[in-house]
Amino acid sequence: MTIAITGATGQLGRLVVEDLKARVPATELIALVRSPEKAADLGIPVRKADYDRPETLGPALAGVDTMLLISASEVGKRAAQHHNVIEAAKRAGVKRIVYTSLLRADNSPIRDLAVEHSATEDELKASGLRYTILRNGWYTENYTGSIPAALAGGAFIGSAGEGRISSATRADFAEATAIVVTGPDRDGKTYELAGDEAYTLSDLAAELSRQTGRAIPYRNLPEGEYATALVSAGLPDGLARMIAGWDTGVAKGAVFDDGHQLSKLIGRPTTPLSTAVRDALAAA
Ligand SMILES: NC(=O)c1ccc[n+]([C@@H]2O[C@H](COP(=O)([O-])OP(=O)(O)OC[C@H]3O[C@@H](n4cnc5c(N)ncnc54)[C@H](OP(=O)(O)O)[C@@H]3O)[C@@H](O)[C@H]2O)c1
Repeated sequence: MTIAITGATGQLGRLVVEDLKARVPATELIALVRSPEKAADLGIPVRKADYDRPETLGPALAGVDTMLLISASEVGKRAAQHHNVIEAAKRAGVKRIVYTSLLRADNSPIRDLAVEHSATEDELKASGLRYTILRNGWYTENYTGSIPAALAGGAFIGSAGEGRISSATRADFAEATAIVVTGPDRDGKTYELAGDEAYTLSDLAAELSRQTGRAIPYRNLPEGEYATALVSAGLPDGLARMIAGWDTGVAKGAVFDDGHQLSKLIGRPTTPLSTAVRDALAAA
């Protein structure tokens, strides 16, 4: 049984690889990466595979039984990139694909992300291959990553209003991914994966205040003002606009979920917000 992992040099991919190594022999794993020099420390065989270069994908997938397709990272290019990978997998005789999608990809208000995930889901369903879809909600790190900026600026800013966020850490999602990739038959299933706890950005700011002993309020901004603030903080204009737009989707409930499918899969509660904040403060 050979399992190939795309995006293995990414933040989620590295955690999945570590989890998989605890479950199956490293010799049964293959990291598919566009920059092999970044993968030398993964401790598993590495093959070059660039989504934008289809000629690299066929050889990379030779002899692979199961492929974990971790969604690509360039918004707007991803549907075509995933298409290249799925076509190569069909030609190479891959039997099964596990794909990381987006929570409620079929009707999420975060349209710019959802449309590409939906297109890939449809393509997988029509591929004739066995597939499992993991619709991942927000990573907690999307917000804890802003803690240093909140501490420096004296407030946590965003456009998510009172939207409730059922996030989980990358480590939680990675564990579920490894369980699905190596576990019993879950063919044709789609999982909506999210954290057990739902919080607003006001709750996050309150937790940050509690743990630091400083008053760090949440300041909700109109989407345009939030994008401008992100540009002032050094983000490129297009990315800043996208992030601010996603927060507006969050305000509409895009990343709230109370189905607890993630904790059921991993057999434990997802990482609490208080723990994620503590870990982020320790790393800051
Ligand atoms: N649920 C959420 O909150 C959330 C948040 C952010 C992203 N995501 C999605 O989840 C995925 C994994 O998250 P992450 O945090 O691990 O992202 P990440 O750290 O940016 O990792 C993305 C991975 O994709 C690889 N990649 C990008 N373009 C590629 C190409 N053309 N050919 C081959 N590989 C390519 C990258 O390779 P390099 O190492 O060479 O760059 C990297 O390994 C993201 O790509 C995105 O689709 C979800």
